[in-house]
Amino acid sequence: MSPAHPRSWLRWPSDRPHGPAPRLAYGADYNPDQWPRETWDEDVHLMREAGVNIVSLAIFSWARIQPAEDQWDFAWLDEIMDLLHANGIAVDLATATASPPPWLTTAHPEILPVTANGETVWPGARQHWRPTSPVFREYALRLVTAMAQRYADHPALAAWHVSNELGCHNIYDYSDDAATAFRDWLRRRYATIDALNAAWGTAFWSQRYTAWEQVLPPRLAASHPNPTQQLDFKRFSSDALKDHLRAERDVLRNITPDIPVTTNFMVMGETKGMHYTDWAGEVDFVSNDHYVHPGPQDLDELSFSANLTGNIAGGLPWFLMEHSTSAVNWQPVNRAKEPGELARDSLLHVAHGADAVCFFQWRQSAAGAEKYHSAMVPHAGADSKVFRSVVELGRTLGELAEIAGAPRRRASVAILFDWESWWASEQDSHPSSLLRYRQEALDWYSALLCLGVRADVVPRGAPLEDYRVVIAPILHMVPEELAKELTSYTEAGGHLITTYFSGIVDENDHAWLGGYPGPLRDLLGLRIEEFAPLFDGETVHLDDGSTGTLWTDEITVTDPAVTVLASYTTGAHAGRPAITRRQAGSGSAAYVSTRLGAHGLPDILARLLETTGVTSELPPQAHGRVELTIRGHGDTDYWFLVNRTQEPVALPEISGQVLAREDEGSEEPLVLAARGVTVVRRTTGDRPPH
Ligand code: GLA
Ligand code: GLA
Ligand code: GLA
Repeated sequence: MSPAHPRSWLRWPSDRPHGPAPRLAYGADYNPDQWPRETWDEDVHLMREAGVNIVSLAIFSWARIQPAEDQWDFAWLDEIMDLLHANGIAVDLATATASPPPWLTTAHPEILPVTANGETVWPGARQHWRPTSPVFREYALRLVTAMAQRYADHPALAAWHVSNELGCHNIYDYSDDAATAFRDWLRRRYATIDALNAAWGTAFWSQRYTAWEQVLPPRLAASHPNPTQQLDFKRFSSDALKDHLRAERDVLRNITPDIPVTTNFMVMGETKGMHYTDWAGEVDFVSNDHYVHPGPQDLDELSFSANLTGNIAGGLPWFLMEHSTSAVNWQPVNRAKEPGELARDSLLHVAHGADAVCFFQWRQSAAGAEKYHSAMVPHAGADSKVFRSVVELGRTLGELAEIAGAPRRRASVAILFDWESWWASEQDSHPSSLLRYRQEALDWYSALLCLGVRADVVPRGAPLEDYRVVIAPILHMVPEELAKELTSYTEAGGHLITTYFSGIVDENDHAWLGGYPGPLRDLLGLRIEEFAPLFDGETVHLDDGSTGTLWTDEITVTDPAVTVLASYTTGAHAGRPAITRRQAGSGSAAYVSTRLGAHGLPDILARLLETTGVTSELPPQAHGRVELTIRGHGDTDYWFLVNRTQEPVALPEISGQVLAREDEGSEEPLVLAARGVTVVRRTTGDRPPH
């Protein structure tokens, strides 16, 4: 983040004809170019009914705005911008560069991405452009310039929306443009070809390079491509799109220095190509898109993603740019949301710091690949369950206006989320191909939810010293300075918990020698000579009654300060330690060598937390059933209480003033409706709930 551009928020139009400036933003992607003019009037009428105060416009409108190289058509966009403004609706205006029009790809097929196998990614869908194509960049920036000049002074303009979900479909491009840019990136990183050879370990398999021109992206190869080449290609690919983001942003800042710039991240599920921790400093405020993948931990995953997004945003408010009112169209089976889910999902994002709740999209498309994707106005029209829920949510967000701007309140437990460990731990030719970095982190998060303990999912690089407990699942890549940071953290009284396959490699993906887990050996007080991963479906039992899958280690305890908390009773290492903890001054460092999963972790986690002073802020009957998050400013706290169950939950212990609730129930005592969210305002003077 350049200091010249302190983080900012939407620039709301000052002259609002329809009452006071809205506080929490509410709206959707809006694609009026898919509809006849008369629909627009109904749109804005319904938007006002729903309390919509912002829309993201023109995201996929390049072909409409610039129908040919030297032809521009802004008339329709001028008209809709004016119409929205006249109705008190602000615009998060896209730069419209996400999907290049057919005339451009016909004239310049050299902008099309190429797969690792050398296949061209043809137009016909969207986002078919090479992040490193100088030709694409030139055309895109011409469009950005035209947009910025046209709308610089438009009163509806509240923010710029760069491209769309950068990297959603084009994160990895193996074209010749990519090869050239990759070499430039490597030259900057390593300076000399010898340094690259050392970092990539090219003494292996006759891979030694003698000139930069010989270096390629990891294209289809006869066997496993060089792992450090693969890792650097991941780093490079994330940087290449970040570079595109910066290029568009710089044009915008130059022409409209007072308008904040954002782009929608995809902190969700297994989307891992874009290093968002590293991108966050490039935007004026962080935005995220999130879609639920139905499954046993789906609500935990939503919370995990929102939590991580909030911490990527440094605890400051962020913008939920897209989620769905109901079903999506791109999963194998697309389930509609049940009553209450639309509001609960939205408010869970707000609970984790979102000051904007937007959907993809406003009106459900009648044609195109997304015609079966839900929207705020479904195919059925305004006389529908979905639209009524949308209107109700708009009212709730209005009631919550005063929380806008309130940052997240820090928890006492952190889960350390490290993009590079995610990338490195899941590469090929490893002890197991079954390991899933994010799943392990999510399992620990689920265990914390089960115990009713609030946690922050923090990106690596965030300060750790204020957390009593830091959980670092599969912290695979541990450069020397990270090992030092974790050691100082525990020496200062912090409690570290880490797991299998941690502390294995340095920043170049070279194994630490002398026994695993390399630089964490002394801190954990143990040594491992060989990994012992398990086959799919294979289990091991531990003497605390738990069951492990996926992984085990042959652990030798090397320090008398280590307590064995559980041992294996079955498997190749029966009788040996499975879970250990080393006392380090007033702090400690624990190691869990197998996958206990969301159901197995709560027991051991409760034992590990016992000596740390960390307890739940919720009454016992709410543990696992209610999620608590806290936002606040000054001496005012906002407790978000999210009912994770399908039944009402009574919380008579919790006092404070109810700001918004999803049911119409009585206020005393507090009862959360099934799937309901209640927000309670408390001042520092209020007594703790138990
Ligand atoms: C992404 C895109 C949107 C739309 C939705 C559908 O988030 O940004 O344009 O395709 O997915 O879920
Ligand atoms: C083959 C190859 C070796 C080595 C081993 C690994 O035998 O000849 O170079 O790759 O596989 O199993
Ligand atoms: C992402 C996007 C969706 C859709 C799917 C397709 O999740 O958000 O819009 O394009 O990919 O797999």
